[in-house]
Amino acid sequence: MNLVFLGPPGAGKGTQAKRIEDRYSIVQLSTGDMLRAEVTSGSDLGVEAKGLMEAGKLVSDEMIISIVANRIDQDDCKNGFILDGFPRTVNQAEALTDMLEQKGLKLTYCVSLKVDDELLVARITGRYTCAKCGQGYHDEFEKPSKEGVCDKCGATEFSRRADDNEETVRSRLEAYHNETAPILPYYEERDLLRTVDGMAPIDEVTKELNAILG
Ligand code: AP5
Repeated sequence: MNLVFLGPPGAGKGTQAKRIEDRYSIVQLSTGDMLRAEVTSGSDLGVEAKGLMEAGKLVSDEMIISIVANRIDQDDCKNGFILDGFPRTVNQAEALTDMLEQKGLKLTYCVSLKVDDELLVARITGRYTCAKCGQGYHDEFEKPSKEGVCDKCGATEFSRRADDNEETVRSRLEAYHNETAPILPYYEERDLLRTVDGMAPIDEVTKELNAILG
C-alpha cells in the first residue's frame, strides 16, 4: 500500500501516519523530518533548507524530489510507504507520478485531512515530541499517560520544533493554501483522493482512515 497524506500544517498527518505505519507494516516518509535531519547534520542541503523552513516557505521542488526518489528505493519501503508532506506542489505531484511509474509502483490513495485554519495554530503551538524516539504529544490534546515520561520509550527529554511558532505557522498555512491545496483536483481527477474529517478527535480520525484503507 502506497499512500500520500495531504493536509495543512497541524492537520494530523504525522500523528495518523505513525498509527497507520504500525497497523499496515508500511513506512512513514516525512519530508519535513528528512529536511530537519539535513539541517541538524549541517549538510549543504540543510544549510539551504534551514532559512526557508524557519520562514515557513517551501524548499525547491528539485531538492525534495531527488530526496524522495532516493528514499523510496530503500529496502524498508518494499512493503509500502506513507508520504507525509510530499507532494506539496502540483509539480511535485506530477514528478511523483512519473517516479512511481518508472519504479513500477502505484499510488493506492491520496488521503486529505481537512481542518479549519483557526484550530491549526493551537495544535501546532502545543505540539512537542520525545527527543529519543520522536513520539508526538500535545500540551492539551495528547498528553503522555505519566507526565514528563514518553509512553513509547520511557525517555524524559522532549523537544519543540523551531518552526512551531504562531508567525511561522501563518506563513506555512499560506504556503499550503497557495501551493499545496491545488494538488487536490489532480488526485480527484485520477480517482485517488479520499477526504477525512481531521477536526474529529485523534482516535476517530484513525477509525475513519482504517475504514478507507480496509
Ligand atoms: P513538515 O514537517 O511536513 O510540517 P507540516 O506540513 O507543516 O506539518 P506538521 O508536521 O506541522 O503537521 P502534521 O499534519 O504532521 O501535524 P501533527 O500530526 O504533528 O514540513 C516542515 C517544513 O519543511 C515546511 O514548512 C517546508 O519548509 C519544508 N518541506 C517539507 N516537505 C516539503 C516539500 N515536499 N516541499 C517543499 N518543502 C517541504 O499534529 C499537530 C499536533 O496536533 C500534534 O501535537 C497532535 O498531537 C495534535 N493533533 C493531531 N491530530 C489531532 C486531532 N485530530 N485532534 C486533536 N489534536 C490533534
